[in-house]
Amino acid sequence: MSAAPPRGRQLTASDIRAMKGRVPIVSLTAYTTPVARLVDAHCELVLVGDSVGMVLHGLPSTLGVTLEMMILHGRAVARGLERACMVVDLPFGTYEEGPAQAFRSAARLMAETGAQAVKAEGGQRVAEVVAFLVARGIPVMGHVGLTPQSVNAFGGYRVQGRGEDAERVAADARAVAEAGAFAVVLEKIPEELAARITAEIAVPTFGIGASATCDGQILVVDDMLGMFEDFRPKFVRRYAELGHTAGEAIAAYAADVRARRFPGPEHVFEGSPR
Ligand code: KIV
Repeated sequence: MSAAPPRGRQLTASDIRAMKGRVPIVSLTAYTTPVARLVDAHCELVLVGDSVGMVLHGLPSTLGVTLEMMILHGRAVARGLERACMVVDLPFGTYEEGPAQAFRSAARLMAETGAQAVKAEGGQRVAEVVAFLVARGIPVMGHVGLTPQSVNAFGGYRVQGRGEDAERVAADARAVAEAGAFAVVLEKIPEELAARITAEIAVPTFGIGASATCDGQILVVDDMLGMFEDFRPKFVRRYAELGHTAGEAIAAYAADVRARRFPGPEHVFEGSPR
């Protein structure tokens, strides 16, 4: 069997699941059609993350993100994808009540965006929800370690799973994998713990601040492009400084307008018909 994922069609959650232990799996977030097109050319999985709330809407955390926002951005991303498997986040408050609420929310995300899967944060406490959705045909990606929707319970965006806390995070990852998740995001946990979980569970792990020992990596696209300036997590490598470049371009435009250098002759329409 080939180590490479299939070409010529959109990848499914099962394709991602089958990549466990083969080639590193590449993933980024996307929230808009143009960025989805760029990401689709290079990634096996695209996450419409609830990070959209902080990155594009200026919210202070992901807690204010709604199902309607996820549907709007999910539909935009779907228009830009041909190959990558699309996963949409279940936002805070739309699945924690239990399986019935989670199914209603996940069904809307799947039906109204065309996503291949949803993602739910939490470990042992969401295992029942994961099993319920999977049994009803909705592939689920898990997310353990630092789960930003629980920022108030954690008291900040701290590294999780250090020392004795490692057992809790490992049990969380096992619980969602055994409940049927096709993959699990490991966020901001120590390298040894990420390596252990990756060896222990049967489905791919996607690390974000969890070391190269994971089966795949995921980053927030605006972080790695240098577009999100509010804070710079230690686990992000910046591959571009687009925020800086955009700032310079906007300053140059403003200077040109003020000096009447823009618009130039090439941008002006003539009055006489041709
Ligand atoms: O919302 C998001 O972008 C995420 C990633 C950071 C994994 O959950």
